[in-house]
Amino acid sequence: MKMMAVILAAGKGTRMHSDKPKVLQTVLGEPMLRHVREALRPVCGDDVLIVVGHRAELIEAAFAGERFVRQTEQLGTGHALMQALPALRAAGCEMALVVNGDTPLLRTETAARFMREAEGADLAFATISLGEPGAYGRVVRDAEGRVQAVVEAKDYDMERYGAPTGEVNAGMYAVRLELAEALLPRLSNANRSGEYYITDLIGLAAAEERDVRGVQCGGDESLMGVNSPRELAAAEECMRAAVVSELLDKGVLLHAPALVRVSPLADIEPGAELSGPCDILGASRVERGARIDAYCVVRDSHVSSGAEIRSFSHLEQARVGQGALVGPYARLRPGALLERNSHVGNFVELKKARLGAGSKANHLTYLGDAEIGEGVNIGAGTITCNYDGRNKFKTVIGNGSFIGSNTALVAPVTVGENTLVGAGSVITSDVADGELAIARGRQKNMPRKG
Ligand code: UD1
Ligand code: CA
Repeated sequence: MKMMAVILAAGKGTRMHSDKPKVLQTVLGEPMLRHVREALRPVCGDDVLIVVGHRAELIEAAFAGERFVRQTEQLGTGHALMQALPALRAAGCEMALVVNGDTPLLRTETAARFMREAEGADLAFATISLGEPGAYGRVVRDAEGRVQAVVEAKDYDMERYGAPTGEVNAGMYAVRLELAEALLPRLSNANRSGEYYITDLIGLAAAEERDVRGVQCGGDESLMGVNSPRELAAAEECMRAAVVSELLDKGVLLHAPALVRVSPLADIEPGAELSGPCDILGASRVERGARIDAYCVVRDSHVSSGAEIRSFSHLEQARVGQGALVGPYARLRPGALLERNSHVGNFVELKKARLGAGSKANHLTYLGDAEIGEGVNIGAGTITCNYDGRNKFKTVIGNGSFIGSNTALVAPVTVGENTLVGAGSVITSDVADGELAIARGRQKNMPRKG
């Protein structure tokens, strides 16, 4: 039976008090939707449709390459699924796995187990048991334990349904397409929210004596829904602690582990050493024997073995080679490449710049759009002037050169190998291999007046 996943992500998320669509709120540096998408990848591969609506263009831009369906008016979760029907039908889907986009803790195992339990059912949904049902939809079963309906918290009538049991709807459903097509047009919005609820499918299907299953997933926190800043913070702490525990299990050295925040997308090898507080986000990779000190933020970067990232450094899309030293207080921006044993010190910024093996830029420097060879010394306060207000230009410095302090290299400019550039120079034309270049006003000394 051909299965496809549908992620409901069109809602605004009013309770977040934010202009961003709720599913773009981040947990450990990634939008909630990314976590849901990645959890489903092993289960559904590329057979995933995302229903978007509120500020759809922002989500579509952040998830380029995914398949989207638009729900132009957010009339409820049932209405959202309805918008996906034509695309599901066209793709030959027979069974849809529908997941709320605001369940960032969803685990692949949970989704896979749920699908196994749902096999053969007309409609299955995951349930969790909570002490307090809160704002979740409440599961109503008959005396034999058969599911009769899911009733939203706002619409729950104690007299009609009795005291709620604590079993609630987790927001994950497996539904035969044929059943969805038959029942979705019958949904009504005559309820407290004035919305078409996906959960009403359950009561309709049960009334028709279809095979409806509430798959109990215990107190599984991986199905927690995130609707408010408090729930977002709780979900983030939950994921953070789980990632840290996995890192410790596999042999990563952690100091102040309660303050270490590592994305589940990051790859930290056993024998790497991290000190909290620090953020290692995105698809970062930290090799065995690399060290990242406290107060660093590392995103989508690769830190090789033996490299040290000292406190207060900020790395984004950077590569740090073996044995390189970075910081304290360094900033490596996209395209920074530090080769083996190079050094970048305090208040040094690199952008699209390669620093060759053993080269050093230790103090107060900006290197942008630059190719710097091996064994080069970049003096304090050196600046590559790469921008003329319209375009960016490149600076090249050959192996073994020594750039004196407070040099401005006005790009495009090439400084050859084994050159010496005098301190305070403004270099506007190329320097050939082995030359000494000085470009500054000559010092004049004269008797002091008065
Ligand atoms: C929903 C369920 C509730 C369940 C809970 C689990 C309904 C009616 N209720 O409630 O039974 O216990 O999830 O977390 O479904 N969305 C759309 N289009 C819309 C409205 C919502 O795509 O028109 C998306 C949202 O972006 C969100 C998801 O659907 O990702 C769930 O919507 P939300 O408003 O958070 O539903 P809950 O009130 O949490
Ligand atoms: Ca929700």
